[in-house]
Amino acid sequence: MMLKDQVAVITGGARGIGKEIALRFAREGARLALYDLNQAQLEPTVAELRTLGVEAEGFPANVTDPAQVDDAVQKTLDKWGRIDILINNAGITKDGLLLRMDVAAWDAVMAVNLRGTFLCTKAVSRLMLKQKAGRIVNIASIIGLVGNAGQANYAASKAGIIGLTKSVAKELASRGVTCNAIAPGFMQTEMTAVLPEEVKQAMLRQIPLGAFGTPADVAEAALFLVSAASRYITGQVLVVDGGMVM
Ligand code: NAI
Repeated sequence: MMLKDQVAVITGGARGIGKEIALRFAREGARLALYDLNQAQLEPTVAELRTLGVEAEGFPANVTDPAQVDDAVQKTLDKWGRIDILINNAGITKDGLLLRMDVAAWDAVMAVNLRGTFLCTKAVSRLMLKQKAGRIVNIASIIGLVGNAGQANYAASKAGIIGLTKSVAKELASRGVTCNAIAPGFMQTEMTAVLPEEVKQAMLRQIPLGAFGTPADVAEAALFLVSAASRYITGQVLVVDGGMVM
């Protein structure tokens, strides 16, 4: 049990990659606090985590709202008294070519992906500094490294997360807190299930390992970055993409 009794906050933990990270951490004995907009999906996920014999709570929160983030962090502290791990995973897409992208689509994606990561990091790092220990992992994307036509907002938000990760890593390192990012490639989730078949096939041809990734691949990388095995690693971007970007 690598994470026995450690308290892990996972944003967007109700489904997809966030849920998979929660399940993986639960199998290592962690206590899970899931922050998610989607209350209906939080409940079954929390119930599933508890069947693994760990403590888990769902805190309905919109990560773009500082008051809701602070409230969820306070409730987590009231319950367990500490936060050891933060996974900034909540993210959305609102794709469109630049000339057709309206300001609302730009703002919405920047708000959840970048502002949300900033707000949660700020709220939780205050505690981690006092504890003189903590692990922060931000879920970026290879799109933040290489860009993508039709995803200017998403690419900018994920590139922003990478800059944020490195700055936070430098600010918190002297107090024993690490901050790293994971850049997943093309993963099989509900977010990507909606893409047209020809787009999926074109992607597949660009993946040297010849298959799409799964949320479990991201969860294993996250486990490494919060475990004792990575204690000397901070400010890095771990690419989990089957070799697409190298
Ligand atoms: P998903 O859409 O399945 O899950 C995202 C979760 O975040 C949902 O439970 C949703 O309710 C929650 N969420 C959305 N907005 C929120 C807000 N304002 N406040 C709180 N919670 C909110 O997405 P998926 O595929 O699991 O992606 C998770 C992360 O991984 C995202 O940051 C995404 O950008 C990133 N990613 C995903 C890839 C993929 O292929 N699916 C590839 C690269 C990165």
